[in-house]
Amino acid sequence: MRVYKKELPTMIWQDKELRLLDQRLLPDRAEYRICRSLEDVADSICDMTVRGAPAIGISAAYGLVIAAQRAFEAGLDANTMHHDLKYASEKLRLTRPTAVNLAWALEQAGKWLSAHLNATPEDIVAGLELVAIRIHNEDIENNRRMGLNGAALLPGKASILTHCNAGALATGGYGTALGVIRAAVESGRDIHVYVDETRPLLQGARITAFELYHEDISATLITDNCAGYLMSQGKVDLIVVGADRIAINGDTANKIGTYSLAVLAAYHKVPFYVAAPISTIDPAIADGKAIVIEERRPEEVTHLCGKRTAPEGIAAYNPAFDVTPANLISAIITEREVVHYPDRSKLLKLFS
Ligand code: MRU
Repeated sequence: MRVYKKELPTMIWQDKELRLLDQRLLPDRAEYRICRSLEDVADSICDMTVRGAPAIGISAAYGLVIAAQRAFEAGLDANTMHHDLKYASEKLRLTRPTAVNLAWALEQAGKWLSAHLNATPEDIVAGLELVAIRIHNEDIENNRRMGLNGAALLPGKASILTHCNAGALATGGYGTALGVIRAAVESGRDIHVYVDETRPLLQGARITAFELYHEDISATLITDNCAGYLMSQGKVDLIVVGADRIAINGDTANKIGTYSLAVLAAYHKVPFYVAAPISTIDPAIADGKAIVIEERRPEEVTHLCGKRTAPEGIAAYNPAFDVTPANLISAIITEREVVHYPDRSKLLKLFS
C-alpha cells in the first residue's frame, strides 16, 4: 500500500504559509510546523525540522516568499523590498553551509529579482512564489527522471545499501537515492534495502526506514558499523546514496559515514552510486577540498534522542558530512543522464 508519500509531504505551501513536516519527531509523530516568518523558516533549517539538500533549498525559496509577503503587508516600497530580500536571502543561505541546493535555490530567486527591478511589491511576492513553486515541482520531476535513469542500472534482483535519508522527505518528493530504489521497485525488480541507522541523528533509522516500511519496500535496518561485515559476506550488490554538494571533478559531500562506505565498497568491489540532481553539482568548486563541511553541536554525539550516552565533559567531534573522492564513485545518477566514472570534463558537459 503506497500511501506514505501522498499523505505525508515534506512540505505544504498554502495561503503564503509553509508547513514543514517536523522530521525531528519521526517516526513517533507526524506534525507540521507552520512557518509564517523568515525566522521561522531559517530556524527550521538550522534545527533540522526540515533537512536534506533539495528540501532545504525549496524551503529557503518559500522562506523568501514569506519575507516578501511580510514586507508587502508592512507597506514597504519595491526598492526597500529588494534591499530587505537580499538580507533575507543571506540569512537563509547561512543556515547550513554544505548543501549547495540551498544557495542554488536562493540564486534562482535572486535572478528573478534582478530581472524584475521595476516590479511592484505585489508582483515581487507573486514572482518569487512562482519561482519557489517551480523549483519544488521541478525537483519532484527531476527525482522521477533520476529514478528511471538509476533503476536502469540495476539487475532484476538486488540488495542495496543506503545511508542517511535521500528519500521523499529529503526532497520535494520521491527522493534521489530512494527515488532510484522506488523506481526499481515500481518496475517490478526484486529489491531489498539495507538501511544504515546513520548516527548521530539517525536519519536512516528514523526517516529512511520509516519511508520504506510505510511503502512496503523490503528493508532491514543495520547499525552503521555493520556495513563492512555485510559486504564481506557478499550481501550487498550495490550502494546508492544522495549528495549535498558535488565538486566539478566529482568529489562528493554527503552525510558523515558516506566516505567510509565508499572505501569499503571499493575493497569489496561493490558498485557505489551517487544519485543527485544537476543542481547539487557546484561548478564553482574545483574539488572536494574546497567544500565547506558543516560542524554541528557536540551534544548530537554525546547524546542519543536527548539522553546523555557519554560521560559529562568528554570532547566530541561532529562533522555533519564527509567527502568521497570521485575515484571511488562508480557513477553519478542525474535527471539527465548517468555519468559513469565522473570527472571534470564529463560533469562540465551537464552544464552545456
Ligand atoms: O544533515 P541532513 O539530514 O540534511 O543530511 C542529508 C544528507 O546527507 C542527504 O544524503 C543529502 O542531503 C541528499 S538528500 C536527497
